[in-house]
Amino acid sequence: MNIAPKRYLITSALPYANGLKHVGHLAGAYIPADIYTRYLRAQKRDVVFVCGSDEHGTAIPIQAMKEGTTPQAIIDKYHQAMKEDFADLQISFDVYHRTSDPLHHETSQEFFTYLHERGELETKETEQYFDEGSQTFLADRYIKGTCPHCKSDRAFGDQCESCGTALSPDELINPMSTISGQIPIKKKTTHWYLPLGRHEDFLRQWILEDHKNDWRASVVGQCKSWIDGGLQSRAVTRDLEWGIKVPLPEADGKVLYVWFDAPIGYISATKQWAIDHNKDWKPYWYDQDTQLVHFVGKDNIVFHCIIFPVMLKLHGNIIPANVPANEFLNLEGDKMSTSRNWKLDMRDYINDFVKKENGGEQCVDMLRYYLTQIAPESKDSEFTWKGFQDAVNSELVSIFGNYINRTFVLMHKLCGGKVPKFSIELEDDKDRQLVKDIADIKNRVGQSLEQYKFREAMFDVIDLARKGNKYMQEKEPWIVAKSLAENPAAQQQIDNCLHHCLQLTANLAVLINPFLPVTARKICHMMKVVDKVLDWENAGSMKLLSVGYTLREPQLLFRKIDDEEIAFQIEKLKSGVMEKPQEQSVAVQAPEKDIKSEIVFDDFAKIDLRTGVILSAQKVPKADKLLQLEVDLGFEKRTILSGIAMHFQPEEIIGKQVVVVANLAPRMMRGVESNGMILMAEDAAGKLHFVQPDGVVAPGAKVS
Ligand code: MF3
Ligand code: ZN
Repeated sequence: MNIAPKRYLITSALPYANGLKHVGHLAGAYIPADIYTRYLRAQKRDVVFVCGSDEHGTAIPIQAMKEGTTPQAIIDKYHQAMKEDFADLQISFDVYHRTSDPLHHETSQEFFTYLHERGELETKETEQYFDEGSQTFLADRYIKGTCPHCKSDRAFGDQCESCGTALSPDELINPMSTISGQIPIKKKTTHWYLPLGRHEDFLRQWILEDHKNDWRASVVGQCKSWIDGGLQSRAVTRDLEWGIKVPLPEADGKVLYVWFDAPIGYISATKQWAIDHNKDWKPYWYDQDTQLVHFVGKDNIVFHCIIFPVMLKLHGNIIPANVPANEFLNLEGDKMSTSRNWKLDMRDYINDFVKKENGGEQCVDMLRYYLTQIAPESKDSEFTWKGFQDAVNSELVSIFGNYINRTFVLMHKLCGGKVPKFSIELEDDKDRQLVKDIADIKNRVGQSLEQYKFREAMFDVIDLARKGNKYMQEKEPWIVAKSLAENPAAQQQIDNCLHHCLQLTANLAVLINPFLPVTARKICHMMKVVDKVLDWENAGSMKLLSVGYTLREPQLLFRKIDDEEIAFQIEKLKSGVMEKPQEQSVAVQAPEKDIKSEIVFDDFAKIDLRTGVILSAQKVPKADKLLQLEVDLGFEKRTILSGIAMHFQPEEIIGKQVVVVANLAPRMMRGVESNGMILMAEDAAGKLHFVQPDGVVAPGAKVS
């Protein structure tokens, strides 16, 4: 099915209204969606960009308990805070809605009723943990116990906080209610389930065949793991107070599961946008010529690629055209974590940079730039303050900002502050090359953006500024100017150079606009042109500024980040961190020193170690410890069986960089041939860690 899209509906994952969001969230689901949307708008395509707060689920009452207040107070506070933070960072949602809105409650209940009436849901009676003290069924998060994997006592019914393993309440050793502190009993309860198994053929065809080439490999890989692992029915209701009431008389005291209602929030948000703008929302969710794109982080893939699409299909809606999910962003060498306070909140950046007197809006673009440059598009990546400083100082300031500043300064000095004329008879190869570069790069940037390759697209724009610097350096108008006294005709050469440099400046404004909107508007201001110049169709033109037009004095586009600021941020991060209790106790144990017998260099040299990336992972039936991995070695893909199933969930390791023993003889295990071995380090607690290069290295690189 290949219908040219007539309209676009772009979504960013609805953030939970239980706390401030950090730059990992921003890089994963908000900035890329904003870039894409701005690009579409610049082409005057019909696009609506929706988001809102996710205000249900157990995360909300739990946060209320922590802060000693009500769930309503929590969602009001964080909804407002997140909305402001997104606005401060120029994330240009057309609507920022919230799932506590009555419009969303109605929309979700209608959705549930529709599926229920058509027999698309099943009911099942199961036994679940019940807290006699508070007379409530216990949501997974409300049960605490000992982790069956790492034996930490910081494990909850859905996940172990120490080792990160996803758990179900039944796996916990010594379960305890976090509400009453009592040991919970088991009690029968009935719930409604979405039988995903019925839709396996559809999912296989749609994701693993139709989209195997245009969706990101990590997304397809994760879906394959889920589908191959067997699609279980998923409960879409819960025994909880906080949430959207299940619209059935027999379902008293039950609410819709948060992951059922939250994605429907995209539809409710579209409805709200339509009401606010007197538009019809229906084509955006029903017409096949609408392109629906969900921007999410990798922990949301299953919901957006499997569960929600099944719901949409059953409800007669369109299904997503793409889900360009991102991997995770680490921070200064460690996983970002809210519970350990190892993170950089959007709000902290806003306060420390944007709202500081030497900061301002330029700092918004500085962050957007760095987060796009390190976007974890195909593997986990890392935010470091040094990296931020380098990106700003040696790229934004030294290349992009410097080019535009020089152009303006020289134009004022050598051309009287006006756009000089270009004399075609003086045109040379360098001029022609520059014009060609502008046109080529425009096409490249467009293509990359259409394929959701945002870092590549932005790289090309910066590269164009680099080419501009080179052009100016070669033409040396300031040297030519010295000969003006004896040769007044040389002014023509100067004019030609600056004419092109100015047209390139205008082009850079158009091309950078989706990424750095503040900068684009500033350049427009300096050029005294209206923002309409930023329409994408203008890129590639050498006629954006008319000859003789007076331009303003240059403004500095970006300021440098100095060493003290970086040191301050690193200090702040380190002093605020909560230690991992687990690690404290293992740190006191000395590592063992039973070194194997000596080898000579040639023994070592026989081992061929290579970098790789895990493309997919799945459990091996009847083998508790084994995961079957598909690993990209650059020159080929390998199937490798690895004994790490007790330590990692298949979906969490997709996209991980690894080091592989690439010339290990093949070995049959459980009927599957394993071709290689993954290097792991074991800590004193017996937990495994991947051995990885300290930065991103292309797959297949030699390790020695
Ligand atoms: N609140 C979820 C999270 O932060 C994302 C919800 S996305 C939606 O992980 F599709 F459900 F809205
Ligand atoms: Zn654990």
